[in-house]
Order: sequence, then C-alpha cells, then structure tokens
Amino acid sequence: MSILKNGALWEDQDKNPIHAHGGCMLLHDGWYYWYGEDRREQFYVSCYRSKDLKNWEFRNHILTAGSKMEGCRVRTTLCLKNEEGGKVNLERPKVLYNKETKKFVLWAHYENGKDYREAAAALASCESPDGDFIYHGHFNPYGYMSRDCTLFQDDDGTAYFISASRDNADLHVYRLADDYMNVEALVHRLWQGEYREAPAVVKAGGVYYMLTSFCTGWAPNQGKYAFADSMQGRWSRLFPIGDETTYESQPAFILKKDGRLLYFGDRWGGGGEKYFTSGYTVYPLEAENKQLILRRTEEAAL
Ligand code: GAL
Repeated sequence: MSILKNGALWEDQDKNPIHAHGGCMLLHDGWYYWYGEDRREQFYVSCYRSKDLKNWEFRNHILTAGSKMEGCRVRTTLCLKNEEGGKVNLERPKVLYNKETKKFVLWAHYENGKDYREAAAALASCESPDGDFIYHGHFNPYGYMSRDCTLFQDDDGTAYFISASRDNADLHVYRLADDYMNVEALVHRLWQGEYREAPAVVKAGGVYYMLTSFCTGWAPNQGKYAFADSMQGRWSRLFPIGDETTYESQPAFILKKDGRLLYFGDRWGGGGEKYFTSGYTVYPLEAENKQLILRRTEEAAL
C-alpha cells in the first residue's frame, strides 16, 4: 500500500482513481463505505469500501443516469437527465442508515447540469449499502433553495439535513422525518448573510461542531466552525479554523475513528476537465472546550 498523500487523487486496490468527491463515509458491519461524486461517463455517485481507510475496494456506481426511478410520498421531479438529454449534477451525496426501516437513505444537491438555478435536494434509497440505489427525485424543501449539503445523525437516531439556501446566504438545518425520507421541520437558518458552504457536523465530548467553507466556487477559502449544545439549540457565531485556504481544501465530512476526529476535505482541481484531477485531504482535527483545531499534514492522517 502506497502512502496516501494529501491533495492527491488516490487509487483503489485495482489502481483505478477513486472518484468519491464531496462525499461521506458510513461505518456498517465493520466496513467503512465511502460515497461520493463520480462525474465520469454516465455515473453520478460511486461507492468504495475499506476496513482500514487505506485500502479501498470499488463496490458500485450506486447512482447513474440510468438508475431506477420511483416516486415517494414527497412530490418530486424525477429526472436524471436534463431536457437536452445531458447529465444533471448530483453533488455532495451523503448517506445514512435508518435502523427502523433498514434502508440506506441518500440526500444530495441536485442541479440541471447547465447552471446552478435548480438548487434542489435529491433523495434516493437502497436496501444495501452498496446496491443500486433507487432515485426518488428532487425538490425544494418548503420551497427553499438547497445547495451544498450534509446529513448528520444524532445519538438517538434523529437525523438532520443541512443545506445552503437563499443563493447560499443562509445555512438551513432541517430535522428529518423518522424514516429520513422527508424533512419534518426547518429548525435553523444559521448565520444569515454569511454565505457558508460545504457543511460538515460532528459531535465530540458532548458538543456539536459544524465546519463550513466560505463561498468561492472551486477555490479554497478560510474554513470556519461553530458549536452548540444540541443540534436544535443555539449555535455560536463562526470562528476561523486552519489557514486562509483551510490548508488547500474544502470540507467534505468529519469521521470519528477510534476516538480520533478525521477531517476529510476535497482539493478541487476546478471546473471542466480539471474537476477530474480533484484530490483528497485528511487532516487531524482536535476538539476541546468548544474549540476545533485543524492541523496540516503531508500524508493523510489515517
Ligand atoms: C463549490 C461547492 C462545490 C461545487 C462548486 C461549483 O462552492 O462547494 O460542491 O458546487 O462550488 O463551483
């Protein structure tokens, strides 16, 4: 196994590039499943798995332009191709396991592949972590715009969908229904007018932390974090973390492993063809007394 360099596009066990950008990880039955954007060919979201976070096995293109589509109780638009037959965009896919329904539920940011005006949330589900997900369409929660997003599952199973709204000016926090298949309340409109993107949430030492980026397209910027005593409680104002480029990364998600906090970020190559050179960063994150500290390392801190 070669050393995983921060900023590089890593390879799976078959020496193929791992395309799981803007993603998330889920620990299930002893495996870490890594889901993320895969913009190659007709793919949208791909899934890899690993026991040690270093050796990755490609599992499946879980959402593609040809995925099975099926409505759900939310009125959505079911389309995985735009009017011209081109690809749409499914960005920042996040997956949670719902213990009650035994389903893996995916939320993502949907755009029409031409511009960023749809600003919608997309929903999909599957009975296995790496099977072919069924696409349930996209919608605007309570009519709001919904762009960069994440999911967070609290200790009691309550889940939240967090997404940038009002042209990214405000960050909305929605509590999800118990089966994770709809939003059931808009519980916060955080940091209005402060333009936060790329949210990632973690609970450590009884404190909830949210990390976000500023809004500068593919270019990295100063990360900031905030804390709260509960997801629905009062969130602090934002404090800077890392340096003015968040060590050349934008947050994707935070993973807790063996008592450590791992910050996963994307080092985007840029738009167009450059997107495909986008790499990954894993930096160690420390949480203490409502403070988050991110450290830069050359190698992925796995
Ligand atoms: C970023 C966002 C990415 C992608 C990009 C497109 O701000 O976090 O997920 O949407 O803009 O320019």
